[in-house]
Amino acid sequence: MKARPMMDRLEAVFDIVPHAESIADIGTDHGYLAVELIVRGKAKRVIAGDVHKGPLESAKSYIKSRGLSDVIDCRLGDGLQVTKKGELNGAICCGMGGFLMRDIVEEGPEPLEFYVLQPQNGQAELRQYMVKKGYRIVNEIIMKDMGKMYTAFLALRRDLIDAKYNCAALQMTCSDVDPYHKLPMTSILWSVGALLAKEKPALWNEYIDFLIYQRQCALDGMTVELSHTEKYKQLQHEIDELASLR
Ligand SMILES: C[S@@+](CC[C@H](N)C(=O)[O-])C[C@H]1O[C@@H](n2cnc3c(N)ncnc32)[C@H](O)[C@@H]1O
Repeated sequence: MKARPMMDRLEAVFDIVPHAESIADIGTDHGYLAVELIVRGKAKRVIAGDVHKGPLESAKSYIKSRGLSDVIDCRLGDGLQVTKKGELNGAICCGMGGFLMRDIVEEGPEPLEFYVLQPQNGQAELRQYMVKKGYRIVNEIIMKDMGKMYTAFLALRRDLIDAKYNCAALQMTCSDVDPYHKLPMTSILWSVGALLAKEKPALWNEYIDFLIYQRQCALDGMTVELSHTEKYKQLQHEIDELASLR
């Protein structure tokens, strides 16, 4: 099988993965990311996990066709449960819900050095959970793929920042004040991304327009009776807050 180029979404995620001995790609599906981690030298060993047999089999055959079966271990099962303590430095989860990712991190078997997470929803809850668990969100990105917008972030275990993972080498601004430190739990920045709001990368305004559009669609779908509900007011409030972040 020929090398398959990764989609723009995974290519952007790949860029924020730290170099490490051993990394898991959980929910690997096609296995493209797992292969690139080895081919481009991000990891020496990869565990590619998936809970469904079909996707894992397709990952397996792609990995075999690239001659990487000895360094990429394909494992069938739920989240990080397919791994043992001491096997991994970090894990990547892409293209799944944020609540599922939170469960995968929680269920362990151990708090890893880092996680690279690209959730499709539940961003606020996932960020709050990671910060509460002792991680610092040190890099956040926005990417566009096939007309859709996504975000991803790298969370490093606090005790390892500078001790093991050098922020300058990772081209991160770890020495700056952490925008999540003391951020009120009700702030919309948990959902939008406080680092993104601070750094305003190239796609920032387009991303904010996309978040406003999502909320406007929800408002447009509500009937007149629902226009007096708390949910309606909340959505209107969020649109105003988002507009002020441009
Ligand atoms: C939408 S695909 C994303 C694939 C790839 N990570 C990407 O971003 O392109 C989600 C994959 O996660 C797998 N998955 C869902 N829940 C899982 C879990 N609890 N543990 C491991 N894999 C899971 C699914 O079987 C599927 O292959």
